[in-house]
Amino acid sequence: MSTPELNVKHRIAVIAGDGIGVEVVPAAIACLERIAELHSIDLEFTYFDWGSEYYLQHGRMMPVDGLEQLARHDAVFLGAVGSPEVPDTESLWGLLIPIRREFRQYINLRPVKTLDGVASPLASKEPIDILIVRENNEGEYSEVGGRAYRGLPHETAVQETIFTRLGVSRAANYAASLAAARTGRLTSATKSNGIIHTMPFWDEVVAETVAKYPGVTVTHELVDALAAHLVLKPWTLDVIVASNLLGDILSDLGSSVTGSIGLAPSANLNPEGDFPSLFEPVHGSAPDIAGKNLANPVGQIWSGAMMLDHLGHPEAAAHLQTAFESVLREGLGTRDVGGPSTTTEFTAAVLAAIDVIDAVTAIDASPAGKPAAAPAS
Ligand code: NAI
Ligand code: MG
Repeated sequence: MSTPELNVKHRIAVIAGDGIGVEVVPAAIACLERIAELHSIDLEFTYFDWGSEYYLQHGRMMPVDGLEQLARHDAVFLGAVGSPEVPDTESLWGLLIPIRREFRQYINLRPVKTLDGVASPLASKEPIDILIVRENNEGEYSEVGGRAYRGLPHETAVQETIFTRLGVSRAANYAASLAAARTGRLTSATKSNGIIHTMPFWDEVVAETVAKYPGVTVTHELVDALAAHLVLKPWTLDVIVASNLLGDILSDLGSSVTGSIGLAPSANLNPEGDFPSLFEPVHGSAPDIAGKNLANPVGQIWSGAMMLDHLGHPEAAAHLQTAFESVLREGLGTRDVGGPSTTTEFTAAVLAAIDVIDAVTAIDASPAGKPAAAPAS
């Protein structure tokens, strides 16, 4: 049976957003509500209808005081933003990137893990269990740059990459502390052979930072070789630290190698707890399958488990994780993982599994039952 945990109210801001966000977020909330009931956790969800529809009506992705509204919450639970009717620069820079930056969510933690019942496109059956730590506030995603001579033959675009000692070292510190608690093996994604100013700086700061962790060794891998490594021998990788762009690319690749991008969760963390952290699947709004009840809700549900863990409820997080993993193990996944279920059928099966697990046993704390989530902070 579940044990009562701290009876603190957790205020969760929910932004379902666009496309399949409005399908997978209600699926995950249904699971979170059931788990909260069983574990006596007080979750209060407040819904915000921000996103591309809002943009088409108001000319912006969220209200002027949107960040102030979100700041009054303990966490943000996001689906996805992005619509064919709105330029991606508007949807990303009008909502997600300001939240990540203003709330100093400088760690984007993205677990990549094989799950029983989900076939990998790789021939090998070796289990994969990787944590990607993506630097989330600076790097290649910068506003510095511009366009000149628009429409002329010598039209020019310049985009600057910004790396700071503070930004790189705090990402490296976070990754090294995770590695220290696992195998001690850290891989840093780089491209210092071609990008000759920022990437050697990244390498130096990562090396200096990791040197303070006696049990951790860092391997600097050029990202092109690392991409191949992630396909050829992903089971030899443990914790990866990467810049904003490289981490984004590697995590789409990593989730596909374990079966589907629809499975992949993520946590945008403000480790100090000065601001709410944000939990969202790695995938986008998937306009190609939106509205068809085909979306895989696992990435969103798993992100919910990471949120529970972050809010101080590891037992509840493990319960939720065990539930969706058991449904996948039975082969009842959605179409993207070769299964027969619709989004709603899969969600119903997870809800049933939550109750069965609760009735049968308390969740044991075995490593398999423990979600690969962020350390509670
Ligand atoms: P995407 O991740 O939305 O879709 C890529 C492919 O994966 C599509 O074939 C899609 O059907 C499939 N897919 C994604 N999630 C799935 C799920 N849960 N279940 C089953 N299949 C799934 O990436 P795409 O197509 O590049 O971007 C679509 C829109 O989403 C764009 O506007 C983009 O800017 C936005 N986007 C938003 C993100 C966010 O809100 N964090 C992240 C990535 C993209
Ligand atoms: Mg991405």
